[in-house]
Amino acid sequence: MIPQAAPPLRIARFRREIDGAVARVLSGPSYILGEAVAAFEDAFAAGAGGSPQGSHCVGVASGTDALALALRGLGVGPGDEVLLPALTFAGTAQAVLHCGASPVLVEIDARTRCIDPHAAAAAVGPRTAAIVPVHLFGHPADMPALMAVAARHRLAVVEDCAQSHGATLGGKRLGTFGHAAAYSFYPTKNLGGVGDGGAVVTADPSLAARLRGLRHYGFEDRARVSGRIGFNSRLDEIQAAILLALLPHLAQANAERRAIAARYRDLLGGTELGLPPEDEGAVYHQFAVTAADRDGLRERLAGRGIGTAVHYAPGLHRHPAFAEGARTPLPVTDALAAHLLSLPIQPEVAGGQVARIAGAIRECLACGG
Ligand SMILES: Cc1ncc(COP(=O)(O)O)c(C=O)c1O
Repeated sequence: MIPQAAPPLRIARFRREIDGAVARVLSGPSYILGEAVAAFEDAFAAGAGGSPQGSHCVGVASGTDALALALRGLGVGPGDEVLLPALTFAGTAQAVLHCGASPVLVEIDARTRCIDPHAAAAAVGPRTAAIVPVHLFGHPADMPALMAVAARHRLAVVEDCAQSHGATLGGKRLGTFGHAAAYSFYPTKNLGGVGDGGAVVTADPSLAARLRGLRHYGFEDRARVSGRIGFNSRLDEIQAAILLALLPHLAQANAERRAIAARYRDLLGGTELGLPPEDEGAVYHQFAVTAADRDGLRERLAGRGIGTAVHYAPGLHRHPAFAEGARTPLPVTDALAAHLLSLPIQPEVAGGQVARIAGAIRECLACGG
């Protein structure tokens, strides 16, 4: 069986370095907000994993918390509306609810599969406070157009980079266009730990300082005095040590993902499948094709020992928690939710298997699935 993804294979590949990193944490001196978190934050902010030199990184407990704390830190709260794409992981919208704000679900662009800037502009209303573009599957949203909409209406922009560690657009790193960027280190991510973790990256030092308080009971400076609302949402010391060990390998892993994607393109070109957009700076968190009979193809591939996944169905407007946020019909979102299929792309899983997977797909398509 070829699984769609298998984080333990990635951990096994770097096991020696990871074991050393964990052992150093176990020896102390500190298990919470210690040396490993500080070192990881410095390295991530220095550009290794997806942020420009000189920016600030604040490690938090998850990608969902990274989004919620970034929005709170930018002043988003009750009564505000936040625009986000209708096709994304539920956590993006949950983060908006965590701030007491309302998610407004925006149609996506059929090419990028990310939020459509024209639809975003049309969705701006008197209560709109922020936009959260998601760089879905490691492909860039149209950030120049979205930043223009945000500037016109004075909106905060938090980039959801949970799937785009190290990706670029026009040579510029994703996560550096908006006011802040939120990362997830969930085990399947391009940079993933062995548990939950997240981070906010921002060029704004005062936002970074607010975030350090928000993640740690609202404490200000070293005095353990709560200046404002705060949470317990810290990046764990062991996760930070593991992420720090994996960070130097991120660029190579992303290059491997790009190579696998190029091979899929060669081998699946000319079939009836819709292929992902050809973005030079994409990091292929997923290689998601569209198929007319997606569920039939999925079943036939499973019968041939090939795992696939569906990201994401249904669209967020069909989740009871977010349904109120749908202000317009969302036909592009519905169509993609019905037809997208994610093939194996994790290098430790798909490397060396692309010809077999593509061959099986061609056979399945030929026999009607
Ligand atoms: C696009 C997107 N946003 C947000 C999240 C939430 O991250 P986490 O699971 O770390 O809370 C994820 C992934 O899980 C995601 O893929």
